[in-house]
Amino acid sequence: MTRSSFTEELTSASYPGRLPGQIVSGWQSPSNIALIKYWGKRPGQLPISPSLSMTLENAYTQTILTATLGDSGRSNLIINNDPAHPFLPKLNIFLNWMIAEIPVLKNYQFSVSTQNSFPHSTGIASSASGLSAFTLCLLSFAAEAISLQIPQPHLMHQASFASRMGSGSACRSLFGGFVVWGKTEEISCASDLEALPINEVIHPDLHSFQDAILVISRKPKILSSSRGHETMNSHPFVAGRINQAKDHFSGMLKALKTGDLEQVGWLAEAEALSLHALLMSSPGGAVLLEPGTLEVIQKIRGARSHGLPVFFTLDAGPNVHLLYPEADRIAVNTFIEAELTPYCQDGFWIADRCGEGPREIREISLSTTFQV
Ligand code: PMV
Repeated sequence: MTRSSFTEELTSASYPGRLPGQIVSGWQSPSNIALIKYWGKRPGQLPISPSLSMTLENAYTQTILTATLGDSGRSNLIINNDPAHPFLPKLNIFLNWMIAEIPVLKNYQFSVSTQNSFPHSTGIASSASGLSAFTLCLLSFAAEAISLQIPQPHLMHQASFASRMGSGSACRSLFGGFVVWGKTEEISCASDLEALPINEVIHPDLHSFQDAILVISRKPKILSSSRGHETMNSHPFVAGRINQAKDHFSGMLKALKTGDLEQVGWLAEAEALSLHALLMSSPGGAVLLEPGTLEVIQKIRGARSHGLPVFFTLDAGPNVHLLYPEADRIAVNTFIEAELTPYCQDGFWIADRCGEGPREIREISLSTTFQV
């Protein structure tokens, strides 16, 4: 493993000139949904098998970081002025890792204002969007502090490399469209250290692939993803899972290239069910599915048997991602409203789709939902 893939000037302990007193940086970064799951890791936040995701458009985090020159050597992080913010422990560990890599950071104190486009506590993974947005803010700030220009494509690769240390799935959120993380014989330049967009090989029909996120339960997760990954360390089926993930990855890549929707959907479902089967068969047997999850799965399969091209995937939680082609949007929305919203908590679901990746906040108009 290379020590770091950061621009050399960023990792240097000496920086020319005086450091600015205050810098503000802001990024909007999306969540992503894995079609091939990252499940299980090795030391250094390295995956045990390759994963493949679709970046979302409407489920995102907006983060504004204010860095103020302060006591050196102290990592002082405040999130939304909330001393008990649930992300604080995770972000602090990650910030300390970043400080060890990028020395200029240790001269600053950080105040973060962050907000998700989706309501809090909906059980939708926000670590991918949150960690990727925070990483982009830190890197943009560090570059500005030492007057370094980092071209956007390089910034995204470095942010992918870094955000992996905070949340593995976050490394895929730095790129729009379809993204691979983890070494695989199928793609020579894919890496365990950072993610790689693969849009140029994806069939044109899939660039507008839709994802309706059906919020079955807003309850907080009973098992963190870190604990979930840990269950794979001693899982009796780990070798089988690694082989299965490789086979599914290979099949998914082929289906995405040829635009074979049936195969994309079938493999996405197989991956979701496998993830939950692994959880349920791990020591302690974590059951994260709710009765409504299973009802919705049956409804989706029922609708499919009547000709509606709908498929599902799940994260490590009860909420269902309903995948379907854009051409069927009206029919699918009618199906969701009539048949599936009764299983969604407060009838809540999010219409999402394949998205374009992060945006710097100075380049976008702040949405009204973002109150700092
Ligand atoms: O990035 P983490 O550590 O939160 O793990 C994410 C794991 C899954 O969401 C279940 C699968 C994935 O590949 O996103």
